[in-house]
Amino acid sequence: MQEHKTIYYKDYLPSDYTVVNCSLEFIIEESSTRVENIMEIRRQNPSAKELRLDGEKLDLELIWVNDVLLDETMYTKEENALLIPLDTDEARIRIINRIYPDENTELEGLYRSGGIWCTQNEPEGFRRITYFIDRPDVMTKFTTKIIASKERCPVLLSNGNLRGTATLDNGKHLALWEDPIPKPSYLFALVAGDLGSITDTFTTMSGKKVDLAIYCDRGNEDKCHHAMRSLKKSMEWDEYTYGREYDLEIYNIVAVDSFNMGAMENKGLNIFNSHYVLADEDTATDADFMGIESVIAHEYFHNWTGNRITCRNWFELTLKEGLTVFRDQCFSADMNSELTQRLDDVRALRERQFVEDAGPTAHPIKPDHYMEINNFYTATVYEKGAEVIRMMYTVLGREKFREATDSYFEWYDGKAVGTEEFLKAMQSQSPVDLSQFKRWYSQERTPVLNVSSQYRPESAELVLKINQIIPNNTKNHEQLPYAMPFRIALLAEDGSEYPLKSDDVTLVHRDVVWLEKSVHEIVFKDISSAPRLSLNRGFSAPVIIECDELDYPFLMANDRDGFVRYEAAHQFGIETLEAMMNGAEVNEHYIESYGAILCDGSIEAMFKSQILELPTLTTLMQRQAVIDVDVIFNAHEKLKQVLARRYFSEMLSMLEGLYNPSNAHIDGVSMGKRALKNRLLGLLMSAGDESVNALCLSHYHESLSMSERLTALDLLENYAPDLASGALDDFYRRYQDQTLVMNKYFAVCASSRREGTMERVAALQENSAYDVKVPNLVRSLIGSFARNPVAFYHRSGTGFRFVAEKVIEIDAINPQIASGLAGAFKNYPKLSHEQKAQMGIELERIKNHPDLSNNVYEIVSKILE
Ligand code: PHE
Ligand code: ZN
Repeated sequence: MQEHKTIYYKDYLPSDYTVVNCSLEFIIEESSTRVENIMEIRRQNPSAKELRLDGEKLDLELIWVNDVLLDETMYTKEENALLIPLDTDEARIRIINRIYPDENTELEGLYRSGGIWCTQNEPEGFRRITYFIDRPDVMTKFTTKIIASKERCPVLLSNGNLRGTATLDNGKHLALWEDPIPKPSYLFALVAGDLGSITDTFTTMSGKKVDLAIYCDRGNEDKCHHAMRSLKKSMEWDEYTYGREYDLEIYNIVAVDSFNMGAMENKGLNIFNSHYVLADEDTATDADFMGIESVIAHEYFHNWTGNRITCRNWFELTLKEGLTVFRDQCFSADMNSELTQRLDDVRALRERQFVEDAGPTAHPIKPDHYMEINNFYTATVYEKGAEVIRMMYTVLGREKFREATDSYFEWYDGKAVGTEEFLKAMQSQSPVDLSQFKRWYSQERTPVLNVSSQYRPESAELVLKINQIIPNNTKNHEQLPYAMPFRIALLAEDGSEYPLKSDDVTLVHRDVVWLEKSVHEIVFKDISSAPRLSLNRGFSAPVIIECDELDYPFLMANDRDGFVRYEAAHQFGIETLEAMMNGAEVNEHYIESYGAILCDGSIEAMFKSQILELPTLTTLMQRQAVIDVDVIFNAHEKLKQVLARRYFSEMLSMLEGLYNPSNAHIDGVSMGKRALKNRLLGLLMSAGDESVNALCLSHYHESLSMSERLTALDLLENYAPDLASGALDDFYRRYQDQTLVMNKYFAVCASSRREGTMERVAALQENSAYDVKVPNLVRSLIGSFARNPVAFYHRSGTGFRFVAEKVIEIDAINPQIASGLAGAFKNYPKLSHEQKAQMGIELERIKNHPDLSNNVYEIVSKILE
């Protein structure tokens, strides 16, 4: 049995030695790759006597120190390290080792994706390529020589600028790359293979020309144009918004099919999951197009927030990720609709991060310990991290925030720093003291704001009482109240806002109060009649609001803040559904308010589709003390039916007005129409009407856009089984050779709410389009099943058993993917006695499996704690 060690933030020490230069030579052959690594080492700690190099799964061949070949008595080789006695301030180390990319199923280090050699080194993959001081605070200038068969690998890429190419004997050729900018090893990248590409150029703000290229499997070049447009928009936006200019002559992006995550910001050579590059109208949904735009931007923005200024250690991950997510969210808001983007971001945060924060794997955005750093690329570090940055943006305002980031870039360029340094830059422009605000970095779980009010007509005052309820952390220790910006309005009858005047609280802006006490009683003056409360506008703080005074129908109809309008509908939906789950009839006021939104011709289509979404099963599950999926599912279906029957003709005629089968344009207006059309079709299908089923089938066949085709397919699968099989066969036949589309096919099957889904999923593993070694396919088939509450929480317990078996099987192939899947068991503490017993057996089975990875062990042991 493996030993599972925990690493603590408090134990961090700077590195004894650093690597100033590293010159690498790769000789890529069919079955193995030979790596020669020459490092110029400098001692940083004068009392250090031994150099420790990280290395995993490497076949060491030869080592020299200052040109002296070492024999085995002159160094120590441990399983994951090489120890070399070294008592000089400078040294030259030369190492030759061999690696086996074909056997690398973990997809860390150098591996094969299809026919392409590619690398993934964040966070600790570089040690699987060669011996190195593999930590982000060691920043090195890299030069890379790649030698490979010219026929197998006409394309040879690495970071930085191309310095030369040459043809060699035996059909080989070489390329020499030099990256002038020091970087940590996790940003090193190499790609070799027979790739197609599209190219373009970008001229930077100071007039430098940058050559842009996107590489992909041959034949897919035409699907790269949206990604290229997104890249150019990102480069322009970062210049305009943050004054950040690109710094190399070349920017390359490579799309590969086998990738553990979304994409990777390697310096000058981003490597992407092909899902976030390739798209055309026939094969990608609107969400796919939006996803590509935002991930391309995210990786590009890392060039400054991550690469030029990097993290001192992996506990500081949110320094680059929270900030870069915030930046990509703002970019998408600027490119599309600010409100739509905000609602999508808040929705994702609450569906994923709030759930994580409430469960056994909760952690602060800056964790203070971990077993496996790969488990901390989480919704908390990323999305909650972005909310924390956004709060500072709200407090400082656009201009001061820009001045603060200017200082951040000026002070720390070329350095590996932590969130403290970022906060120092923010504090330099902040109107309020941020000391207490820092608790957002070290505390976990989601705070609740309990809000109530009292109107005093005689003095024309409104007393607002805000009480912070701070949950204990996962260790059950008490935590302290936060400081946060809380955007509010007091609304008059016509929806207009009373100016906020109060001596009791700091107003950081006209409509933003700065909360810092655990209880605030704020008296607002000159309020001429009892106002309606509009709280947490724009979701200014990532908290849960409890307030039983909110006038949902009024806010839905009149609030000028789009988020509050949406939120009122959302909360009203939750309350209506929860009453139904307790046996009540459908709330007539809700049906009316819903109808008012539905029929309001002045609401833009995308926003309307968002408001009309019912609260999800996940949202409702999260609110239950003991999870009962069937009760939620039944109430949910019933509410959809009631709405569909009540507004049947309105929905149908609106649907017809929105439907234009030949429109597959990728612009905001078309996307909005499709989203609303799909929402209405979904509601109507729940009514169980034959003519609607037939309509859905015709939408499946006639639509030119994947968004419509896929929604129709999913609805047929769930509501019209007789028609579904023909459509599924058609879809399969049409797209079986396109793995990105097959992901969608598997996801529809595995997300089905019909009986027998597990058996179908089990059978689909044998399908020729499925491959357990390709993460996207595993996520689509097995991951979708684990996220399908109706199937996963099936009373028989077979869902739990099936996923547990997959976790064990996949752990032997790719621990990162396995531990992601193991997250499906997070609701364990909240299950009924019977289901808890069933899941407990499966969790124990996983935990006791011999040779379990650190990745899965860490997740499962936290769940069982
Ligand atoms: N750093 C990548 C991003 O956020 C994510 C990533 C992490 C990719 C680890 C691969 C491995 O853009
Ligand atoms: Zn990132």
